[in-house]
Amino acid sequence: MKRTLASLDPTRLDGQRALVRVDFNCPVKDGVVTDDTRIRASLPTIRYLRERGARVVLFSHFGRPKGGPDPKYSIKPCVRPLETLLGVPVSFLDNPLGDDAVAATRRLPRGGIVLLENTRFFPGEETNDADLARRFAALGDLYVNDAFGSAHRAHASTAGVAQFLKPAVSGFLMESELKYLGEAVDRPKRPFIAVLGGAKISGKIDLIEALLPKVDQILIGGAMACTFFRAMGLQTGNSLVETDRLDVAKALLEKSGGKLILPRGGVIAPELKEGITTLTVPRESIPPGFAVFDIDPATMKDFAERIKSAGTVVWNGPMGVFETPPFDQGTRGVAQAMAEATERGAVTVVGGGDSAAAVAQAGLADKVTHVSTGGGASLEFLEGRALPGVAALDEV
Ligand code: 3PG
Repeated sequence: MKRTLASLDPTRLDGQRALVRVDFNCPVKDGVVTDDTRIRASLPTIRYLRERGARVVLFSHFGRPKGGPDPKYSIKPCVRPLETLLGVPVSFLDNPLGDDAVAATRRLPRGGIVLLENTRFFPGEETNDADLARRFAALGDLYVNDAFGSAHRAHASTAGVAQFLKPAVSGFLMESELKYLGEAVDRPKRPFIAVLGGAKISGKIDLIEALLPKVDQILIGGAMACTFFRAMGLQTGNSLVETDRLDVAKALLEKSGGKLILPRGGVIAPELKEGITTLTVPRESIPPGFAVFDIDPATMKDFAERIKSAGTVVWNGPMGVFETPPFDQGTRGVAQAMAEATERGAVTVVGGGDSAAAVAQAGLADKVTHVSTGGGASLEFLEGRALPGVAALDEV
């Protein structure tokens, strides 16, 4: 068990500098954050610390800058939404390794907040350099990791710093992510169903292997179903098929003991184009010149029924190319079924990334039990891998 922020004596936070690793890797367009989900998700931790008189020092990576500082990847656009959400000013420190940085964190008033510039601007962040971790550590009196979305990265700000700054605890977001994802996989109410989609089977092999012994069924959608179709000897037209993974797909089908449930058919078109005329075909009849871009209505109905009768559902990956209508229907159908299952008492967990975006787009994010803020991180967690950002925290 990892030590949590909630377990620390709240009276001892007064005046302390809490160095909080958040994941503010939000989508930004023209300098404006277009989806503030991750910022909102960090508010309980920030508010808790402020209200107890801590000086809050926030830091996060933003995008994937290559070779040092690049204004395009400044995390500054996150300041305004944070101020709006909290209703208090947030200062910004563009050189957290500068001579004055430590003093600047000490000058913060009790309850004050500062956001540090993108952690990936500093050499050594991604190699988990001990010297950088030590310099980050000097900016706080305790370390709180609330960046579940980055917990699969062994970086100086997510892992190394926890060695040099104690206590090193999880924040409220991290704690709830680990609780919901962990309980779903380790103590599921049955039947336990996983719904997996996305373009490629190659990114999901470890996940399927890890889930097979735990789940009752795995429903497969997305283009990766076509690699399974081909492995079953079916024609797949121009659909995306990973020909170098056919053996793996065949082996998974064989060892699944009937737990892998594939689409009965697909929505096909000659090309991927918004608003294009489509056809619906059974999986045995995918014609040459066409590609599958979504699950068909019969599969959607079948999947929805299975989801609605489940005790626990974990979903990762869209059923079709949901960002290009009309190929969004299968994914929307799954989102709707997840919401209905939740209403009937099931525990429903949406892995981050595309499936989280789809649930949000369908306006159903608050109708499921938990939507993870981590894409890669939730995938690695569900695969049963240790997350370095969690492993580095203090044990209880
Ligand atoms: C994410 O968006 O999944 C996390 O913020 C991690 O980002 P990264 O894949 O660039 O490390």
